[in-house]
Amino acid sequence: MNLRLDPCSPIGVFDSGVGGLTVVRALMERLPFESIHYFGDTARVPYGIKSVQTIAHYTTQITEFLLARQVKLLIIACNTMAAVSAQVVRDLSPAPVLDVIEAGALTALSASQNLRIGVIGTPTTINSNAYARAIHAVEPRARLTSQACALFVPLVEEGWLEHPVTRLTAQEYLRPVLTEGVDTLVLGCTHYPLIKPLLQDVTGPGVTLVDSADAMAERAAALLTDMNLHSPRHAAPQYHYWITDVPLRFQAIGERFLGRGLGNVHVVGL
Ligand code: DGL
Repeated sequence: MNLRLDPCSPIGVFDSGVGGLTVVRALMERLPFESIHYFGDTARVPYGIKSVQTIAHYTTQITEFLLARQVKLLIIACNTMAAVSAQVVRDLSPAPVLDVIEAGALTALSASQNLRIGVIGTPTTINSNAYARAIHAVEPRARLTSQACALFVPLVEEGWLEHPVTRLTAQEYLRPVLTEGVDTLVLGCTHYPLIKPLLQDVTGPGVTLVDSADAMAERAAALLTDMNLHSPRHAAPQYHYWITDVPLRFQAIGERFLGRGLGNVHVVGL
């Protein structure tokens, strides 16, 4: 492991767009003294329907950008990038790398009693089978039911968090998953934590929803402890948000994901 990592350095977090701010929000709550540089590729989102080659190329550019900011830890907040390009990031990074799929898979396994686990995500994430691989690597007896939910990302971005259309869509997507008797459902996409109450209504109370944002914050805290990398400064941390475009309603959507005001937003080209 690289011995030059500086505990005062920021944590780098990235996503295809603003959705990864759900992970930043969980990190801010769990690690209130850590500075964070967030990168959201708002010009090129959504990734969830793009090819593996394109996603790997974009992921390389973002990783290089954040490494140039001397981050001490890199967090892949995007399930789609984690599903198909986590190795690209690990090969490039001298800093440790965490990804939401690992975090979600381990949390699902500790939550499930009957080892029947449902996973929902973008088409690319589900087609990659990354959650199944991560879960089976630890528990080969687990039975997985996966469902691509392409419509959830646009519905969340539209702000239809409680809308009847979102409820109907969720009922349709989750029907085959619930038929399999799952007791745990992994929300395998940055956007889904925002419709968690609606999803819980549809699944009923017998199904535990695993939110990878919370799971990730716990894993990040544990890693900083193991590596002695917690910030020694107990002053207000700095948050920077790097984005590649300012889309319509960016501020409103971003603040909904983050749960607070967006401060230092910088627009960059890659
Ligand atoms: N960030 C993506 C994910 O978690 C969702 C948005 C996209 O498709 O780019 O899978």
